[in-house]
Amino acid sequence: MHGLVVALVACLAVGSAWAGTVSISPNPFEREGRIVGGEDTTIRAHPYQVSLQTSRSSHFCGGSLINRNTVVTAAHCLQGRKASKVYVRLGSTLYNEGGLVVAVRELAYNEKYNASTMEFDVGILKLAEDVEETEDIRYIELAKETPATGTPAIVTGWGSKCYFWCMTLPKVLQAVVVNIVDWRVCASDAYKYGDIIYDTMVCGYEQKKDACQGDSGGPLVAENKLVGIVSWGYACASNLLPGVYADVAALREWINETAEKL
Ligand SMILES: *[C@@H]1O[C@H](CO)[C@@H](O)[C@H](O)[C@H]1NC(C)=O
Ligand SMILES: *[C@@H]1O[C@H](CO)[C@@H](O)[C@H](O)[C@H]1NC(C)=O
Repeated sequence: MHGLVVALVACLAVGSAWAGTVSISPNPFEREGRIVGGEDTTIRAHPYQVSLQTSRSSHFCGGSLINRNTVVTAAHCLQGRKASKVYVRLGSTLYNEGGLVVAVRELAYNEKYNASTMEFDVGILKLAEDVEETEDIRYIELAKETPATGTPAIVTGWGSKCYFWCMTLPKVLQAVVVNIVDWRVCASDAYKYGDIIYDTMVCGYEQKKDACQGDSGGPLVAENKLVGIVSWGYACASNLLPGVYADVAALREWINETAEKL
């Protein structure tokens, strides 16, 4: 129920933006991570992509498999959730069937995560069992450096947050190409966000805009490395408002240390 209200608020914000009045809300729940202009793709093309699901098998966020038992996602996907109530579906193009469903042993999100500013929006899940690589399940390497502004990257997800604009949720994995925008450039006058962009973030500028789809916690990948985690944005609103991602290079140390100790 809460999720639906959130989605409606987010989509209403988008609606007003399309009418030409973009105002940046301080409420992070109005800036849900979303993908614009997606196209159907397959899990084999993005085998690191996973779906986070509740015990009732409903998809709530995306994630990325980084080794045999660790999934990286957004902190805001994990806040208020218990490991025992989260499942991960791997190796399926469809979020609601196929592949492998694995229980979660433990979860954690960055202690510096700030729900007002969305800084440090990173978390991890430790799977209850090890998962081997197959054609449809692969571990992705974490980026050591944020790619330069203009580097093409690909973001994927099932768009579960878009109840309002998308009359039916895509069951098939969606992908869209964006261009990386460094956080300093993203916070500059070139775009409209200003100082609400922080150094734990990286932006992705959509080359085209279309339907409004989203998937928090999911992967932004460039040069075969995980460079971002879908975090927030008014991506449906305007070319001047790129999607915002948690910057994996900036958060890499936390991911590595936490993955080692859980
Ligand atoms: C979140 O960031 C805001 C703005 O910098 C700050 O005022 C607030 O205290 C922070 N909250 C937490 C929980 O750190
Ligand atoms: C953490 O980094 C070390 C050194 O690079 C590496 O050997 C180890 O596999 C990493 N751990 C995880 C969980 O990725």
